[in-house]
Amino acid sequence: MAADPFSVRTAGPGDAPVIARLLHDFNTEFATPTPGAEVLAARPARLLAAPLTTALLVRHPAVGVAPVTRRPNVRYDGPVALLDELHVVPHLRGRGIGGSLMRRPLADAVEEGVSPVEINVDEGDTDARRFHARHGFTDIEPDSGDRALYLHREIGD
Ligand SMILES: CC(C)(COP(=O)(O)OP(=O)(O)OC[C@H]1O[C@@H](n2cnc3c(N)ncnc32)[C@H](O)[C@@H]1OP(=O)(O)O)[C@@H](O)C(=O)NCCC(=O)NCCS
Repeated sequence: MAADPFSVRTAGPGDAPVIARLLHDFNTEFATPTPGAEVLAARPARLLAAPLTTALLVRHPAVGVAPVTRRPNVRYDGPVALLDELHVVPHLRGRGIGGSLMRRPLADAVEEGVSPVEINVDEGDTDARRFHARHGFTDIEPDSGDRALYLHREIGD
């Protein structure tokens, strides 16, 4: 049987520079201020050493990344997972890499007793929202039918 071209692997400490490069490219693509790949590399190196953070990658060197963090939450017995900064290099999009990166944390969540899995996305990012919807994500609260909003306040600026 042919090997899965988009098989997903779990990042190790040696992957920190390529994760930082992908995150830097993500920031640059979406005109988000970025401290640069060298500065960013310290974060994945630190986070991957902690038990609550993993990063999933496709290929070596990686062409797609899905960082996943887990946190306890009083509403659930298990942790809440945040799928953050899902990113595939532009020239390989639309071929299923993002789908593979998305399916793995969802499968892991079932095994680990995680519920729910969260994603933050900008309202205007319609391509990404369509992608997330296809994988079962919604912004509608199941109990009330209200739209869920993500509120945030920057501290220290
Ligand atoms: C969103 C993303 C991770 C999907 O990865 P992918 O490898 O292209 O995904 P797949 O090939 O499995 O699925 C393709 C679907 O992704 C979505 N998509 C989002 N942005 C896309 C892009 N620039 N090019 C192609 N597809 C894109 C579409 O829904 C597309 O399917 P459709 O147009 O046929 O409905 C990837 O396109 C990406 O990195 N986009 C930029 C970063 C981003 O928006 N990340 C999400 C942050 S919340």
